[in-house]
Amino acid sequence: MVTGKLITFEGPDGAGKTSALNAIVAKIKPQLGDRLVVTREPGGNRISEAIRQLILDRQNTAMDDRTEALLYAAARRQHIVQKILPALQADQLVLCDRFIDSSIAYQGAGRGIGEQAVAEMNQFATEGLTPDLTLYFDVDAAVGLKRIQTHRQDEINRLDVEALSFHHRVQAAYLQLLAQFPARIKRVDASQPLDVVVAQSLAILTTQLPTYFKAEGKSKL
Ligand SMILES: Nc1ncnc2c1ncn2[C@@H]1O[C@H](COP(=O)(O)OP(=O)(O)OP(=O)(O)O)[C@@H](O)[C@H]1O
Ligand SMILES: [Mg+2]
Repeated sequence: MVTGKLITFEGPDGAGKTSALNAIVAKIKPQLGDRLVVTREPGGNRISEAIRQLILDRQNTAMDDRTEALLYAAARRQHIVQKILPALQADQLVLCDRFIDSSIAYQGAGRGIGEQAVAEMNQFATEGLTPDLTLYFDVDAAVGLKRIQTHRQDEINRLDVEALSFHHRVQAAYLQLLAQFPARIKRVDASQPLDVVVAQSLAILTTQLPTYFKAEGKSKL
């Protein structure tokens, strides 16, 4: 039985997902201990990490858009089977850096395959597994890219180097998902300083997952 919760972190490149996730984990780990599982996509296990290398390698300019979408879905499938589902069945709280919404935004809208087609193809991979809660880190695509270019010259990957128009399509698709699934996806204003972003994220977690995040002092956290 699946009793745990899956929380995903989504948003454009450089929105601050990984930075916020790390800061949130530092705050909640002391109380949650082994009940907390932190992972990322594509990745989270040996096979999916190998697929990640293939997708993000800047030399792979010949990769077809649908090949890319299928590889993301394959990595997701393996990640779910090997890590996410067992954790949810063990009543753990899983925080995942990117998940299915990234595929819909980047491959569906960014690459132009179509959001619906990518969502349907991912149904095969996920067998319907949907996050319980998604934090959407909302920042203008240009601001996110500038953050990456300023701070992370060494780590820029094949998708980071796409044209700004690609990243604007990604952002527009995310905003559409936010409007489409208001109960699941909650917006964080990621244009603010990181400490404010982290505080807003924790406030959303507290409100949305009251059994995990009770009022200060009484929390399981
Ligand atoms: N709120 C913020 N304000 C200013 N800079 C930030 C903020 N959050 C993160 N940064 C900086 O922006 C850069 C990108 O942040 P981070 O890697 O967390 O983004 P990301 O959303 O995980 O990006 P990616 O999609 O590429 O994984 C980092 O150098 C980080 O220090
Ligand atoms: Mg990141």
